[in-house]
Amino acid sequence: MRDKLIVGNWKMNGDLATNARLLGRLSTDWHATQGRALAVCVPAPYLAQARAALDGSDVAWGAQDVSEHRAGAYTGDVSASMVAEFGARYAIVGHSERRQLHGETDAIVSAKARAALAAGLTPIGCVGETLAERERGETDAVVARQLDALIEALGRDIARIVVAYEPVWAIGTGRTASAAQAQPVHAMLRSRLVRAGAGDVAVLYGGSVKANNAAALFAMPDIDGALVGGASLDADEFLMIGRA
Ligand code: 13P
Repeated sequence: MRDKLIVGNWKMNGDLATNARLLGRLSTDWHATQGRALAVCVPAPYLAQARAALDGSDVAWGAQDVSEHRAGAYTGDVSASMVAEFGARYAIVGHSERRQLHGETDAIVSAKARAALAAGLTPIGCVGETLAERERGETDAVVARQLDALIEALGRDIARIVVAYEPVWAIGTGRTASAAQAQPVHAMLRSRLVRAGAGDVAVLYGGSVKANNAAALFAMPDIDGALVGGASLDADEFLMIGRA
């Protein structure tokens, strides 16, 4: 069985005092159990705080985005090597909020994944369809296109990433994809990864994951954990998801 990975995506939330309480709880109350790993992806200004609070604990940390460029005149951007300098293990790339609100294309997302790998980070590459795409029956085509772009760009290195399936209609809406809706999409993604020689890549589910629906999702054969938004801001809820 593949290990389970549960990653919190704080999005643009937090402040020093609130973070200190949340990170403190995770650091003291999470103990790596066989086959379970926990991580948080924090806003870039809080990477130093995450490292100070989590170093030596069983919780890893990461960023929510990185630039596709190594360095230079890219005002406001943060490079993968800067993130790596703060001890981060992960970088989310291609979250639907970046694709929708910042116009990130498959090509940009692939370049970001490559930049993350080059800096020693594990990219968490997000794929997912909108509600309109699902209703038109295009779910498989959309997420396959998004994954194939990563497979093509990364070649053999596709085996070094994490994939997250996040149906856009399930993000922040309280409308989770049921385990029965998510599993076939995960199985389809898995079969493409297997064909690319990367069958062991973790495929996480994201979209309104809570303590009360995590266990049913994690019971599915191709769901290897979760990318958790809102519920990762509450220590008790997030720890319960981690143990689900
Ligand atoms: P929610 O868990 O708040 O729906 O967010 C999911 C998500 O976008 C994680 O990246």
